Amino acid sequence: MEEISPGLENVYIKYTELTYIDGNKGIMRYRGYDINELAEKSSFEAVSYLMLFGRFPDSKELMEFRDRINSNLVLADYLKNILLAMPEKSDALGMLQTLLSAKASEELNYKYSKENDRDKIPEILGQVLSMVANIYRIKEGDSIIDPDPYETYSETFLRACFGKADKNRIKAMDSALILYMDHEIPASTTAALVTASTLSDMYSALASAVTALRGPLHGGAAEGAYRQFLEIGSPEKVDKWFNDNIINGKRRLVGFGHRVYRTYDPRLKTFKKYADMLAATNEEKNILATAKKLEETGVKAFGSRGIYTNTDFYSGIVFKAIGFPVDMFTTLFGLSRVSGILAHITEYVETQERLIRPRAIYRGPGERKLE
Ligand SMILES: CC(C)(COP(=O)(O)OP(=O)(O)OC[C@H]1O[C@@H](n2cnc3c(N)ncnc32)[C@H](O)[C@@H]1OP(=O)(O)O)[C@@H](O)C(=O)NCCC(=O)NCCS
Repeated sequence: MEEISPGLENVYIKYTELTYIDGNKGIMRYRGYDINELAEKSSFEAVSYLMLFGRFPDSKELMEFRDRINSNLVLADYLKNILLAMPEKSDALGMLQTLLSAKASEELNYKYSKENDRDKIPEILGQVLSMVANIYRIKEGDSIIDPDPYETYSETFLRACFGKADKNRIKAMDSALILYMDHEIPASTTAALVTASTLSDMYSALASAVTALRGPLHGGAAEGAYRQFLEIGSPEKVDKWFNDNIINGKRRLVGFGHRVYRTYDPRLKTFKKYADMLAATNEEKNILATAKKLEETGVKAFGSRGIYTNTDFYSGIVFKAIGFPVDMFTTLFGLSRVSGILAHITEYVETQERLIRPRAIYRGPGERKLE
């Protein structure tokens, strides 16, 4: 008898040379390189290039890649008008989804070609930077701008958002973009692959990914973890909150547990470093102290069952200290996934070219006649 695999669990749909994960040992690598080392020593553009093209760029290639991203930072007037027409209270990720879908409408006579798709990647990275920066600005009641290009993607992005950026925040943003760039094929990347496997254009595939990212089972954990710290309020209240809500209230501890990891998520190390470095105000320090106490309590209670802190536990503290409000966290996650998703799309379409089309087993009534 045929069997189904709910959630496509344990179904493999592609070979990949992009991301390696060992969930028991807490190891994660991009094309063989340790994730935390990349975050410390490389840059978002160089790691994107590595993911997309299989090797690091030389300095001339890196400069060209940056120049091409920077020459695509201006959004078309119709995209700006769409943004202006949306209420300030709109969901940031929903706004990104709308802009990507609108941009896909430009792909009027799109016909898949490996060369054209690869050539389009820097354009997409530039456009998405400008979309996310302007979404942030509009939600803050600010004006839409054409971002000025700076030395790195992260600096261009932060200056477009805030008009300023210091060295530590730029480095923290760059590390976050690298750490979140790829994680094999979660729901959002899979949604992009389904669309790309029909040989649709890359903006449509990205819009599909962002649509899947919106649900609370996927993209929203950094926001959920941060709201949990706010709800607790201070380190002294952790024990009672944990007993009332997690042990007796049967709520799940957000930022804990993972389908793949049975130990600490390796990306935590770098996020924690930047949380320590950037938390400066009394409120930020209090949230960080609350998070640390909660982590200690959570590991004591769940560690023996292989449930440990995941990356979303500390990433929100970093995004907040960089200057973003909580309701932008998932969209920042979306921004950082773009080059990883594009790398998976190109890898899939170029090597397998197979339409993703699973089956369902029919269990409805047999033949019936209309009266
Ligand atoms: C991420 C997550 C969905 C993965 O879960 P999963 O591998 O599908 O594991 P399950 O949901 O089957 O849970 C297995 C057991 O661990 C428990 N568990 C898993 N994560 C838990 C958490 N964060 N808090 C409390 N209990 C947890 C479950 O209650 C379940 O217990 P049971 O066997 O007694 O019923 C889950 O850990 C979770 O909900 N975490 C909180 C949300 C979060 O941080 N998401 C970000 C993921 S990157």
